[in-house]
Amino acid sequence: MLENAVLVTGANRRIGHHLAMRLHEEGYSIIAHYRTATAEIQTLSDRGISIVQADFVDSVAILQFCQALQDRCSSFRAIIHNASSFEATSSDLTVAAMQYQQFFNIHMLAPFLINEALRPLMQGQGDDPADIIHITDINVENPTPNFDIYGTTKAGLHNMMLVLAKKYAPQIKVNAVAPGPVLFTKQHSKTIRQQMLAETPLAKEGGAEPIYLAVESLLNNPFITGASIPVDGGRRLSKR
Ligand SMILES: NC(=O)c1ccc[n+]([C@@H]2O[C@H](COP(=O)([O-])OP(=O)(O)OC[C@H]3O[C@@H](n4cnc5c(N)ncnc54)[C@H](OP(=O)(O)O)[C@@H]3O)[C@@H](O)[C@H]2O)c1
Repeated sequence: MLENAVLVTGANRRIGHHLAMRLHEEGYSIIAHYRTATAEIQTLSDRGISIVQADFVDSVAILQFCQALQDRCSSFRAIIHNASSFEATSSDLTVAAMQYQQFFNIHMLAPFLINEALRPLMQGQGDDPADIIHITDINVENPTPNFDIYGTTKAGLHNMMLVLAKKYAPQIKVNAVAPGPVLFTKQHSKTIRQQMLAETPLAKEGGAEPIYLAVESLLNNPFITGASIPVDGGRRLSKR
């Protein structure tokens, strides 16, 4: 059984993979969640990191995932909710309804059920509380109209952070890290990338490491809860 585990969801690529790798390098006992098998998740497994597959498609699948975690880990030091789906809202309402259900399941239902299921197993170090960190988005404060389903479900994840910070205190701190333009996706055209960088005071794509640094600072600070750290190069100040 793994003790003092740190769960990272969506660790099979990009930011989640970087978080799992860097936290492992710092000596944390990682349990890495993935949906799709990738070369990156194989890299984590090759390093001796426990990996667990799950598609957060509905409550049954999410609760099965919670059971798998309880079967493998006797205690948790932290949970990092990084898994996410990012897509513009469809103009076809049948498709938009499916997107709403899917984004709700990933951004809200899965974090809620995982937090509640693992809460009894969460342990900090010494007198210090354990940690839950929600990876949200600067869209939570200043949403983008054609990504409204994505933004509203991420805002739910932000609000859940606030309420659980009250509900789980003093045993568990609950905070958020809100990325801005950290790693572009293929959905960001050249024009959109230029516009996003023009709106970013620090004028660059930040990369995954600044997200890790924000996560690490929360794990190491025993007196912050109910807070959101923007990691966005300042874009929230000037985003249209
Ligand atoms: N990249 C940025 O600049 C940026 C900006 C703002 C906010 N963020 C936030 O930062 C976090 C990481 O960003 P990213 O760009 O690395 O994300 P990403 O590339 O979109 O990866 C998302 C992860 O979530 C998993 N996932 C998607 N649907 C799932 C489902 N139904 N069940 C279980 N897992 C599922 C994906 O698995 P699959 O590989 O199987 O799809 C993947 O591992 C996300 O929370 C994102 O919203 C990122």
